[in-house]
Amino acid sequence: MKFFVDTAEIDAIAELNDLGMVDGVTTNPSLIKKSGRDIIEVTKEICDLVDGPVSAEVTATDAETMIAEGRKLVQIADNIAVKVPLTWDGLKACKALSDDGHMVNVTLCFSVNQAILAAKAGATFISPFIGRLDDINLDGMDLIADIRQVYDNYGFETEILAASIRSVNHIADSARIGADVITAPPAVIKAMVNHVLTDKGLDAFLADIKAAGIKIL
Ligand code: E4P
Repeated sequence: MKFFVDTAEIDAIAELNDLGMVDGVTTNPSLIKKSGRDIIEVTKEICDLVDGPVSAEVTATDAETMIAEGRKLVQIADNIAVKVPLTWDGLKACKALSDDGHMVNVTLCFSVNQAILAAKAGATFISPFIGRLDDINLDGMDLIADIRQVYDNYGFETEILAASIRSVNHIADSARIGADVITAPPAVIKAMVNHVLTDKGLDAFLADIKAAGIKIL
């Protein structure tokens, strides 16, 4: 399973990257706004830091302008994946940019039918949004499982990039289902280390180390 970090915060990406836990990065207009940085500048910095795909999202809604924006974004670095929304125009842009040989991440996917269209348009990644489905009392994990099944039925090579991850359970469930990639905020990735029994066990060991005066160095 590949780990993408869903942020435009350089320090957070660098911390996880130093541990070998970053296979790529996803950004979106809201994350760029949150960073307070210029999209081109911050995306270049991320691309310099990380070897894997870095998703940068177009701002236009018509195919022609999306394609032009995509062609500008891919000049930032070789590891740019152009992110386009799952609209008819977004699919046109996906087809044109993937025909050019660029990676394309089709985002805002909320149904299996949308995922099929993205695969047929040549998407490198499809981004089903788990948390936003959960937000409206649907089950985001069901969508990941359905796309996995359909893509496997027909041998679609588009990678399933489980997105809008809000909890460590979303990551474990995505791994069980066989999502190719998860993208999650740094805090959620770091929370994967937590377990109450680890804390309890370590407390007991530390008490015994102190009581017995155990020293190694
Ligand atoms: C994915 O590429 C998106 O940037 C992201 O996962 C959206 O997450 P949110 O629904 O928590 O905003």
